[in-house]
Amino acid sequence: MTDQATKHAKLTIEGVSDPIELPIYSGSVGPDVIDVGKLTSQGYFTYDPGFVSTASCDSEITYIDGDNGVLLHRGYPIEQLAEKSDYLELCYLLLNGELPNSEESAEFVDTIKHHTMVNEQLRSFFKGFSPNAHPMAILCGVVGALSAFYHDSTDIDNAEHRKITAHRLIAKMPTLAAMSYKHAQGQPFIYPRNDLGYAENFLHMMFATPCEDYQVSPTIAKAMDRIFLLHADHEQNASTSTVRLAGSTGANPFASIAAGIAALWGPSHGGANEAVLNMLDEIGSVDNIPEYIKKAKDKNDPFRIMGFGHRVYKNYDPRAKVMQQTCHEVLEELGVEDNPVLAMARELERIALEDEYFVEKRLYPNVDFYSGIILKAIGIPVEMFTVIFATGRTPGWIAHWNEMISGPYKIGRPRQLYKGYTTRDYPN
Ligand code: CMC
Repeated sequence: MTDQATKHAKLTIEGVSDPIELPIYSGSVGPDVIDVGKLTSQGYFTYDPGFVSTASCDSEITYIDGDNGVLLHRGYPIEQLAEKSDYLELCYLLLNGELPNSEESAEFVDTIKHHTMVNEQLRSFFKGFSPNAHPMAILCGVVGALSAFYHDSTDIDNAEHRKITAHRLIAKMPTLAAMSYKHAQGQPFIYPRNDLGYAENFLHMMFATPCEDYQVSPTIAKAMDRIFLLHADHEQNASTSTVRLAGSTGANPFASIAAGIAALWGPSHGGANEAVLNMLDEIGSVDNIPEYIKKAKDKNDPFRIMGFGHRVYKNYDPRAKVMQQTCHEVLEELGVEDNPVLAMARELERIALEDEYFVEKRLYPNVDFYSGIILKAIGIPVEMFTVIFATGRTPGWIAHWNEMISGPYKIGRPRQLYKGYTTRDYPN
C-alpha cells in the first residue's frame, strides 16, 4: 500500500471528545489522499456514492489532471504518444513501465503477432449466438470463455503466466472483435495475417472475405491505430475499476476482463461512441440542433448530449483534441469532408461550447464524440464502436489487474448506508 503519511487530518465528531486522527499520503502529483481505513473500527463508514472523492488504490500507470486537460501514461503526455508512438509500443509501456528499446519492441510485436489466432474450438461458440446479437454481448461471452482454453496460464500468482495472458489478450482481442462482426454479417471468419500491422490486421479481418482481399489504406490504418492508442488506458474508470474489483477476488484474468467489457458497454462509459451516432441520427439535421440542446438542458428530460461531459475532465478532453485532428485527416482521405453527420457534429460542438449551460457545467466534447464519426467514415458499423473501444482498452485493463495482483491487495468490498427494515418477525 501507500508509503509514510506526510501529514494528518483530524476528524471531529459532534458529541465525541477525542478527534480521530487520519493519515494523509501524497502521490508524485495530484491531490493528497486521506486514509479513512481506520474509521470502521471507530464505528463509521465513509459515504461517497459514485466514488467521486475516493481513491481506490495506489497506481503508477496513468495520471489525469481533469482541470487542465492532462493525460499521462507512465509520465508521457498523450499528445506526444499519439504523435510519436504507436499502439503496440504504448501497450508495452503500460505493461512494463518503460518504453521498449528497438530489440524489445521487435520482440514484443513478434510475440503479439504470434498469438493472434484463437483456438478453432472457440469458433463454435459464435454459432450459439443469434446473428443479430450485439457484438458486445458476444465479446463479453467469448472473452470470458477464453479461461476455458488457457489453463496453462491462469495461475495469477505466477508472473510469467500473467505476462503470457497479457500477450494473449492484446493479440486475440482484434481477432475476436472481427469475428463478432463477421458473425453478424453471416460471413466466414477471416484468419489474422502476421505480415500486417496490428490495426491493419484488424481492418483486414473485418473487411476481407475469402473471395476478395481488402487493401488497407495507410491513413485509415493509422487512424485505427490512433483510436486504439487513445483508448488504451484511463486510470480508475468504471470498467478498469470493475476489472480490479473482479480480479481482487482472485478470479482469473479472462473472467476479470470480461467483467470490464460488461461495464464498458453502458452508454455513460464506452457505449457513448455508439450513442453519439445514434443521437446524431435522431437529431437528423443541423436545423434541429437547438431543439436538442434545449432538451439536454431541461431537468425533466433525461436526454443528454452524448459525447459531452466527463467525470474527471472539466476542460477539453486531450484525447478528443487528437481525435478531432485524426477525424479531419480521415474525412479528407475519404473525400467526405462535407458529410452531413460531421456537419451536425461540428455545429453541435460549436453551439454547446458557447452555450451558458455547457460552459457553466464545464461540459466539453470527450473522446467518444469524434471516434464515432471516424469509425463511421471508415465503414465500421455503429454496433462495433464499443467493441473497438474494448479492444483498445485491453492493455489498460491488464496493466491495472497486473499491478494489483503483483502487490499486496485486498478483496474489494465496499460497505453501505443501510436504509431498509430493521429486524422484524416473519408473519405466522
Ligand atoms: N448533456 C447534458 N447535460 C449533461 C451532460 C450531457 N452530456 N453531462 C452532464 N450533464 C449535466 C448533468 O445533467 C448534471 O447537471 P446538474 O448538476 O444540473 O444535475 C451535471 O452536468 C453533472 O453531471 P453528472 O451526471 O452529475 O456528472 P458525472 O460526472 O456523474 O457524469 C458523464 C459524467 C460522462 C456520465 C456525463 O457527463 C454523461 O452522461 N455524458 C454523456 C455520456 C458520455 O459521453 N459518456 C462518455 C464518457 S468519456 C468515455 C469514457 O471514458 O468512457
